[in-house]
Formats: sequence, structure tokens, C-alpha cells
Amino acid sequence: MKLIATVQEMKELVKGYQKEGKTIGLVPTMGYLHEGHLSLIKRAKEENDVVIVSDFVNPTQFGPNEDFDKYPRDLEKDIKSMEPYAVDVVFHPTKEEMYPQGFNMYVDTLSPITKGLCGKTRPTHFRGVMTVVHKLFQITEPDRAYFGQKDAQQVAVIKNMVNDLFMNVTIVPCPIVREEDGLARSSRNIFLSPEERKQALSLSESLFLAKDAVLQGETNAETIKQLILNHIQAKPLANIDYVEIVDNDTLEPLQEIKGNVLVALAVKFGETRLIDNITLEVK
Ligand code: PAJ
Repeated sequence: MKLIATVQEMKELVKGYQKEGKTIGLVPTMGYLHEGHLSLIKRAKEENDVVIVSDFVNPTQFGPNEDFDKYPRDLEKDIKSMEPYAVDVVFHPTKEEMYPQGFNMYVDTLSPITKGLCGKTRPTHFRGVMTVVHKLFQITEPDRAYFGQKDAQQVAVIKNMVNDLFMNVTIVPCPIVREEDGLARSSRNIFLSPEERKQALSLSESLFLAKDAVLQGETNAETIKQLILNHIQAKPLANIDYVEIVDNDTLEPLQEIKGNVLVALAVKFGETRLIDNITLEVK
């Protein structure tokens, strides 16, 4: 496993792989890896000759009052957890390497896709995500890039960017990995107190209840939304940011549960903001 810290070294390595005719899979992460990240890495390894994992806490996707400084970091632990997967390269640049002095460029979209859901309370978040992912694509020139459906809006936004900018990369969305009791795995779960952790289970529970209701024939989005809200609001420590039912590709709100449906939510427990979602294919 090679550990690379500079853009230039990374680009040279990529040139070499390309000369050898090797396909490249990229897994962008902010580190503090868990089973969710590892599922992406495993898939990338199965589908590509070379796997590059980027491990970089991207400052531009955090708002001024968000947890950039507090975001957990542990490169040594990350490297250990990647060893069984035979990752070829870990790209771990500094903030200054990715955003050198004079940096003066963002990638952004005019589409409403970043305005709803997490974009409502995090208005500059997806601009930061698009910018860093665009940079990572330029640096590593991947054939495929792997993203978790856990961040469903992120997947939609990145697909949009790749499509609009004619980028030569296939985006591979991967299913959400959960703890045994159902809580979606997240680097931020470590911030939950034992009581918050217990109550946070209401997120996945409410999504599974919603799924059952839809399977039993409920087609009214508002009814499903209320079902979810009621379940989570019963937990005193939960502070709901949003519960939304939208089209999975356009992220436009739906009145009727029909087509490729995304049921997504964000809930705060103390300072810890958790997201979760479920996708439903309804004819
Ligand atoms: P991060 O939160 O570290 O997540 C890296 C990738 O792992 C994302 O594609 C995310 O959706 C996926 N992931 C996280 N938890 C998951 C889970 N429980 N199941 C499946 N996949 C999961 O997302 C980011 O970093 C950043 O925004 C990034 C794309 C790296 C840009 O900075």
C-alpha cells in the first residue's frame, strides 16, 4: 500500500498505471473508516485493477459553524483497516496541498438539486463536495468512482456534475451499511452518548416502518412522512432537521409514492447531526 501526500506524486503514479493499461477505481473518503467505507473499497477492488482511496477531511464542505476541527481523524487506524482489502494507494494530502495559496475556484451547480434536503441548512456544503471531488477526479483520473447511498443527495449531485461536465468516470452508487441493530454506519456515530445512541435507532426504525407501510399499499407521501415524524418525535433527544420524500434522481418533492422514491431524513442529537434514507421502487 502506497501512501501519497502530494498531487504531483499522485499524478505520476496514475500516469504509470495508465501506461500499463490498468483500470483505476477511486473511493473518496474523509477517513475514520468504518464498514460503510470498507464496503465501497471491497467493491472497487473487485471491479478495478488498481484502487485509490482518498483520505482527506475537506474543509470547503464544512460551514463556518460546523464540525471541521472536531471531525474525527486517525490515519494509522485507517491504514490498518484497509490492509485486508489490498488497497493500492492511499491519497492523504494536506489542506494546503489541495487548496494551495491563491486557490480561487469552485465547482457549483445552478440546479435546484443542492437547494433541498441537506442543502437547506448546509447551503455551501455541496459546492465544497463538488469542488473536492472534481479535484480528486482530475488528480486520479478514475475509470470508476464509488459513493455510498447513505449520502443520497451527494450521489445525485455528483452524477449531475459528471453528466453536465462530460467527465470520463462512471459513478457507482453502493448500498447503505448498517450496524446490527439498524443504525446507519457513520464516522459521527462516536459522538453519540449511550442514551442518544439508543434514541438514534428511531431513524432507521422509522424508515423501515415507512417501507412496510408502502409495501402494504400506502401511496400518500404526506401520510408516510407523518408516520416517520411521529416515530422520531417520540424520542425526546431527537431534533428533526428534515424528513422528505423526493424523486431519487431529481430530488424533487413527491406527493405520491411512485417511481424511484427517496425517503430521506436528517436529525440532530445534541451537536451530532445524523442522516439516513431508504430508496423504494414503486410501480
Ligand atoms: P465520508 O463521509 O467519509 O464518506 C465517504 C464515502 O463513504 C461516501 O460515498 C459515503 O456515502 C460512504 N459511506 C459513509 N457511510 C456509509 C454507510 N453507512 N454505508 C455505505 N456507504 C457509506 O462523503 C464524504 O466522505 C465526502 O463528502 C467526500 C465524498 C469524501 C468528499 O469530501
